[in-house]
Amino acid sequence: MRLTSIVSGALLATAATVWPGCTDSPAIARGDSGGAGGDGAAPSAPRAGGAGGDGGGAATAIPEREIDAYYPVARAAGPAPTPPMGWNSWNQFGCDGISAALIMETADAMVTSGMADAGYEYVNIDDCWLEAQRDEDGRLQPTTAGFPDGLAVVADYVHALGLKLGLYGDRGTETCAHRAGSGGHEAVDATTFAEWGIDYLKYDNCAADEATIEADYRAMATALPDHIVYSLCAWAFYEWGTEIGHLWRTTSDIEATWDSVIANMKRTYPLAAYAGPNGWNDPDMLEVGVGRAMSAAQQQAHFAVWAILAAPLIAGNDLRSMSEETRAILTHPDVIAVNQDPLGLAGVPIRMESKRWVWAKPLNESGARAVLLLNESTEATEMGFTLSEIGLGAGWATVRDLIHGIDLEDISRAFTTSVPATSAVLLAVRGNEPPIPRGQVALSDLTPIYAANGLGPVERDQNNGVTAPGDGAPISVGGTVFERGLGMAAPTKLLYRLGGACTRFRATAGLDDMTAGRGSVVFHVFADGEALFTSEVLTAGTAAATIDVDVTGAQRLELRVTNAMDGTSWDRASLGAPELDCEE
Ligand code: GLA
Repeated sequence: MRLTSIVSGALLATAATVWPGCTDSPAIARGDSGGAGGDGAAPSAPRAGGAGGDGGGAATAIPEREIDAYYPVARAAGPAPTPPMGWNSWNQFGCDGISAALIMETADAMVTSGMADAGYEYVNIDDCWLEAQRDEDGRLQPTTAGFPDGLAVVADYVHALGLKLGLYGDRGTETCAHRAGSGGHEAVDATTFAEWGIDYLKYDNCAADEATIEADYRAMATALPDHIVYSLCAWAFYEWGTEIGHLWRTTSDIEATWDSVIANMKRTYPLAAYAGPNGWNDPDMLEVGVGRAMSAAQQQAHFAVWAILAAPLIAGNDLRSMSEETRAILTHPDVIAVNQDPLGLAGVPIRMESKRWVWAKPLNESGARAVLLLNESTEATEMGFTLSEIGLGAGWATVRDLIHGIDLEDISRAFTTSVPATSAVLLAVRGNEPPIPRGQVALSDLTPIYAANGLGPVERDQNNGVTAPGDGAPISVGGTVFERGLGMAAPTKLLYRLGGACTRFRATAGLDDMTAGRGSVVFHVFADGEALFTSEVLTAGTAAATIDVDVTGAQRLELRVTNAMDGTSWDRASLGAPELDCEE
């Protein structure tokens, strides 16, 4: 449905008062309206340019976008520069029929279905590939019924198709299905996996002592050769996992239901600051094409949420017999491109109001953002965003509906569209990066390209209360109250455009005095990926850290706050008077 400009602006203004994130005023210029049919219908108006839109005047030529030569950033090196893509046997098959035949047929289907061409690479065998006992040499042994010729022939077969083979193990005495565990046998098992030609290990958490969890996961990390992708399956996030894993489960097991998909999403996005090349938050494997509990729109939304989360895309369905509908969802090139974007930033919700989620993810292209409008509720609704909310500067932007492959209206300030119940609209918005800062500027006056935070939005000029926007108190670090600054809750990742125009960055960093003696964090400052400053572990007892670093020539300033390895409790961190010196 297409709204008039005035109605769409009013609706957006209402929503924006609830979780504005790091934005400017939510007032909407007359004429910014959307036309996307969220149900897949063609938009009711063609791409409209300025006609009848911003300014309400006659059609005018749309100015060219400014191009920031910073992009594209090169794809990282390493075994998981972008989220791993593949398939895993567990969601569809559990322990039923886990065999060489199933794995080889699945590998064949990955190629013939077009999945391999779409980017899927790993064929992962989950639990029940192995016996409960080790062989007489103390090595893991595949089931004789399922893998009579061993695993190496399966690896050869999969490799010959241009694919890779993944396997499952467990840090405890036995796997969740009571097969032999690797606890205490890490070295021999890692050697065995490498000899068989295994490329990826999912390492589970059953039959093991909670007290040794970090040591156990580190023991396998040490034993594994570098080329093997290490997938931690510890059922929850642990900060030490980011030091050793290429991906780490953030949740308990997913189920093939909408509620489970949404629950895993909610547990994962607050960890967005940890995601990046060779280290991804894993909300568990895909349930697209598994069971009958989810509608096509819900499965499409599930896939789009995993895409914007930069989650591993590990299909869980039977690839040999999937429907065309399932295949189309799983192989959508433009949705996959959002997930596989080499910049490697995990998308974050920039606003949430009663089950309506607006997400943004910077892409590896000047002024480009993926935006997800996710309607978790059971009623259709109008949803939208402003350019400033998604980290873009002023000027015109194009909007493309990625799922349906349709260019929508160009906008100069805001966009709205109708989103059906329990579904999502995924957009690519292409406009201008935020302006290059000039003179001496307070960071809280700048639009960040990206702002991931552990608890609601990063707050400007107040500390981080709880999840609601603007719910903080004055920033106070080390007993000093700061009028200007940023309020955060670890883990935080903030990215600003400097455009080579700035020379120094200064701030006072610490736990906010609101924590009253609780919490601990570490502050990090990077310029173009180079570490310029890392604080000691800051607790309420330590003095505030003084940051004063040379950023001459840097294109990007990145601020991170991490949890000091002891969980997120009370990790409310503030930056007092963060300032940049830049050219006039
Ligand atoms: C755990 C994991 C699942 C699956 C099963 C196998 O529950 O979280 O992903 O690997 O074990 O037994």
